[in-house]
Amino acid sequence: MSLLEIENLTVTFQTGDGPVNAVNGVSFGIDAGETLAVVGESGSGKSQTAFAAMGLLAKNGAATGTVRFDGQELLKLSNRELNRVRAQEIAMIFQDPMTSLNPYLRVSDQMTEVLQLHKGMSRKEATAEAVRMLDAVRIPDARNRITNFPHEFSGGMRQRIMIAMALLCRPRLLIADEPTTALDVTVQAQIMELLGDIRTEFGTAVILITHDLGIVAGFCDRTLVMYGGQIMEEGPTNDVFAAPSHPYTRGLLKAVPRLDREEDSLQTIAGEPPDMSRLPAGCPFSPRCDQVEDICPMTRPALEGFDGNRRRACHLNVKEVA
Ligand SMILES: Nc1ncnc2c1ncn2[C@@H]1O[C@H](COP(=O)(O)OP(=O)(O)O)[C@@H](O)[C@H]1O
Ligand SMILES: [Mg+2]
Repeated sequence: MSLLEIENLTVTFQTGDGPVNAVNGVSFGIDAGETLAVVGESGSGKSQTAFAAMGLLAKNGAATGTVRFDGQELLKLSNRELNRVRAQEIAMIFQDPMTSLNPYLRVSDQMTEVLQLHKGMSRKEATAEAVRMLDAVRIPDARNRITNFPHEFSGGMRQRIMIAMALLCRPRLLIADEPTTALDVTVQAQIMELLGDIRTEFGTAVILITHDLGIVAGFCDRTLVMYGGQIMEEGPTNDVFAAPSHPYTRGLLKAVPRLDREEDSLQTIAGEPPDMSRLPAGCPFSPRCDQVEDICPMTRPALEGFDGNRRRACHLNVKEVA
């Protein structure tokens, strides 16, 4: 059984201009200790998929479908039960560490409070555990620095502290939503390496949400590609990168800078991301697809398995995607 199993998830926001269909029938799972990348351009429904699963949608949003964590249906939980799951089982980190850190509290106070509240630790036990976790995310001189305020750390160090906070209660799943997007490239690489170490040390499953395909290879076991609130394809990361089965994935990959390619061969996908309140009846990518066929705007392609452990939603033959 998967650790997290999402089935036919939809998210709709009510707005003054009518409903916005942010997530449209998404199904996927993640096993314990596994690493899954959810990629796609901005606005493709990646964050709202995670927010819906964790009961964190904005007030004008509603979710349907099922989200089972360890067999328990999350969409039906009371706020109180959800709070427990969010505090102890599933942690989430974001692009901006200050969404999780309180600027007015010393790091030590923020971290020990969590452990005293959720794990019933004494102040002394909690401090020892907090220092241990700061060591685990490689904060130098953690024993002394723990009494600093968040602003006394660099951006990269704050990101590490946020990860340490998220891991305090030893969650089984960490959802990282664009965790390195605001950081410069060197720090980005360090944070990705750290996330890899954490998976090894604590066995935490990780969902990495990102628009940047460049950070996915070498880190994630599987990659899931979203567009227009739908899954375009999914499979082992190496396979998806080596032989994309969807024109959208192929387009995304052509836009990733690589050392083995001339910079000027970088290509962006022409056209604009879709208006989620006016999606075509068929494939949401069809208006931008350079291999579009007559059927594509009319009929939504089913997400079908192929090659044993891959899935794709495209009317073209796999071999035709080039
Ligand atoms: N509160 C809201 N009201 C209306 N639309 C929203 C709201 N929150 C998000 N959306 C829309 O949902 C869509 C998916 O957003 P999101 O999941 O955040 O994309 P991303 O893939 O960049 O994480 C976007 O079109 C966004 O504008
Ligand atoms: Mg997002």
